[in-house]
Parts: sequence; structure tokens; C-alpha cells
Amino acid sequence: MSNGVEREQWGSKLGFIMAAAGSAVGLGNIWKFPYITGQNGGAAFVIMYVALVFVIGYAVMMAEIVIGRKAELNAVGSFAKLKGGPWVLVGWMGIAAGFIILSFYGVIGGWCIKYILASFTGLMAAGAAGTAGDLFGGFITNAPQVIIYQLIFMLVTIWIVYKGIGEGIEKYCKVLMPGLFILLLILIVRSVTLPGAGKGLAFYLKPDFSKLNGGVFLAALGQAFFSLSLGMGCMVTYGSYLPKETSIPGAAAQVCFLDTAVAFLAGLVIFPAVFAFGLEPGAGPGLTFITLPNVFAQMPGGAMWSALFFLLLLVAAITSSISLLEVVCAYFIDEMNWSRAKAAWVMGLVIFALGVPSAISLGGGLKIAGKDFLDAADFLASNILLPLGGLFIALFVGWVWTDGAKKEITNEGTIPFGLMGPWLWICRVVAPLAIAWIFLKGLKW
Ligand code: PHE
Repeated sequence: MSNGVEREQWGSKLGFIMAAAGSAVGLGNIWKFPYITGQNGGAAFVIMYVALVFVIGYAVMMAEIVIGRKAELNAVGSFAKLKGGPWVLVGWMGIAAGFIILSFYGVIGGWCIKYILASFTGLMAAGAAGTAGDLFGGFITNAPQVIIYQLIFMLVTIWIVYKGIGEGIEKYCKVLMPGLFILLLILIVRSVTLPGAGKGLAFYLKPDFSKLNGGVFLAALGQAFFSLSLGMGCMVTYGSYLPKETSIPGAAAQVCFLDTAVAFLAGLVIFPAVFAFGLEPGAGPGLTFITLPNVFAQMPGGAMWSALFFLLLLVAAITSSISLLEVVCAYFIDEMNWSRAKAAWVMGLVIFALGVPSAISLGGGLKIAGKDFLDAADFLASNILLPLGGLFIALFVGWVWTDGAKKEITNEGTIPFGLMGPWLWICRVVAPLAIAWIFLKGLKW
């Protein structure tokens, strides 16, 4: 298991927060959050989502980080070391979820690369002419092109993971994430001042609670886990590189807050524009890619803004995709004694191959029981495996490894943790019951 080499660590507390926020903030916030919100009726969904993030998401994030930091191992190894028995399956489920998520994540990452280039070759004209939807449709039905961009995205991901955590992951996160934040603020100004933007703001911010039902709850739960990178051992793995003196509650709170802020801002860019341009908020996975060209076309120097936006989105996607690949690789490195190079290349390419059906599904109509392959993979991972993983992680900390968790979250009793009681009860009762209830209410294909 241990190869006698001292485990790599983050360079600083800020380094960890940036890396964990880098994992959390990604396509989930800017590509997925707006279209899921659009499909689930707007503001009421947003309120549910935020509540789930700060009650269940925050608690599960702390649980994952304490498990990882105590065990100093990958997702599977951590459960094996702290308890063993069937709990190891939770780690396994996480690795499976990592495979599935990264398989389709690479496809959307590839779209970003395509759109950086397209910014200079016709995307602005399409935006101005109201034909951005056709351009998008033409692209995703061109299977070889989609696959090539997916491959480029995966190669970049593999290369960074192969370089190792300090050298690769941390360095890129620290510099580029703030840029994305600033650009979103600029885009909000453009979007909310479009004529007709008000209707979009109302859709996004004025709740109509009659739109809530079991399916909406499940979508919000799945989105919360996906966006926070929870339920699959990602925060276990990142926590395993965290220095012992860092305060976990503080770091986790900052990550939850940043992630939610970015998703919320993305919605403020997308929905005013969706309504201003008469687009359909429930349009699905293409929503962001169809809406934004319209916005950029309205800005002086639009092509440049567009390219910059998709570049920063690409960076956000890569800081997430490397965390997905890292979960898988950490297992092969710790448990199978693979070299980092072998783990990154072999697993990265296997996951790329696994993503090819998703790559061709949206254009070619490759379906599983009525859902596009990509949607089906997303649904299985985000709405089933991640919440299930979260449920077991909460139970593990709440009932099984409670004393260990209490020690680890207070850094062996050296720092106070004011929310100990609520945290443990959320892990014991609130999160498991809420997740179980949402499954019962909302789980249908
Ligand atoms: N949180 C990432 C995003 O929002 C996706 C992700 C999910 C990353 C699970 C790691 C683990 O894009």
C-alpha cells in the first residue's frame, strides 16, 4: 500500500482551497447549473439547490475531507484503513462515478475548445443572425470533430495529472480562477441590460413553489453533489494531501460559498439573455452554448470576449477534470503501486474511450431507454451514485467512525468547532433521511 515515499502535500492552505474550489467550480456551474435550472422551472429550484448545498453539501464535504486527511489515502484505501469491510464499497462506487462523470465531462470540455476557435470563425455572425442554435447543432452532429476535441481535452487533463499535484494542479488553479470570476461579472452587466432581460430575471429569481415536485428535488440534490464534487471520494482524495494544521470547517465553507457564487452568477448571465433573445430555458445541454453567442455578438469586440470566456471556462473545466482523473489515479498509485505516469495515461485513455458514445449521442441520437447516452450517464452518476455515496459517507461519520471524525475535524482537539452538534446530527439523521426521501419521491428515469 505505502511505497515508503512521503505523501505529496498542498503547498499552503490557500493552495488547497484553490484546488478544491477548482475541482468544484467547473462545467457544473456554468454549463450544467443554468440548463438544469431552466429545465426545472427556475427560482424555486434555485432556492432548493442553495438550501441543499449549505445543509447537506457542507456537512458531507467536511465528512469527506476528514476521512481523507486522517487516512492519507485514496477513496478506497481510506475506507479500508479507517474501517474496512463493506465500507470499502463506498470508495469503489466513487471510483466508478469518477469514470462515468469524466467520460462525458471530456465531451463538454471539448466543446469549449471548439468554441474558443469558433469565436473567430463564424460564431459571432451566427449570434448576430440568431442562428447560434443551428451552428451548435451542426457541430454536435459532426461526430469526428466532437471526438477530436474531446481527445484534446483529455490529453491536457492526463498531462497535468501526470505532472503531479503540487506542480500541476495547484499552480494552474491559483492563477486562473479569479479571472473567470471577473469575466462573469462583466458579462452580467451586458446580459441584464439587454432589452427584455427582466423576464429572465423574474424566471431566475421569483420563485413559483408550485413548480416543485420529486423530480425537481432530485435534480437539485444531484446538481448539488455534482457541483461540489461530492459523493465520489474526490474531497477524500484532495483531503489526503491536506496539511494537518489546516482548519477543515473553514476551508470547506469557503469552497461551498465560492462554488455557489459562481453558479449563481452564471445564471445571472444566462437567463436574462435567454429571455431577451426569445430562447427556450428548458433547451437542455446546449443552453449555454446557444445563448452566449447572442450576448457576445452584442458586445464591441465580441469575438475576443467570446474566446476569452470559453478559454476561462475551459480552464475551470480542466481544474475539475484533473480532480476526477486524480481520484481514479490515486487508487491505482496507492493500491496497485502503479507509477503516476502509467495511472494517468492508461486510465485517462480508457475514460476517453468510454466517453465516445456520449460524444456522438447528442447529435446522433444514441439513446439508452429514451435518454441520450450523455444524459443517461450524467443521470446515473449525478442523481444516483453521488447522492448514494454522500449518504454512506454521512452515515460513516455519523455512526461508524464518529470519534475519529470528531478528533480530526478539531485537529486533535487543538481548534474549536462550534458546529459539532449540528454537523454530527446532519450526518446521522438529516442528510440520510433527506436523501432517502428524495430518492423515494424523485427517482424515475
Ligand atoms: N464539480 C465539478 C463541476 O462542477 C464536476 C466534478 C464532479 C468534479 C465530481 C469532481 C467530482 O464541474
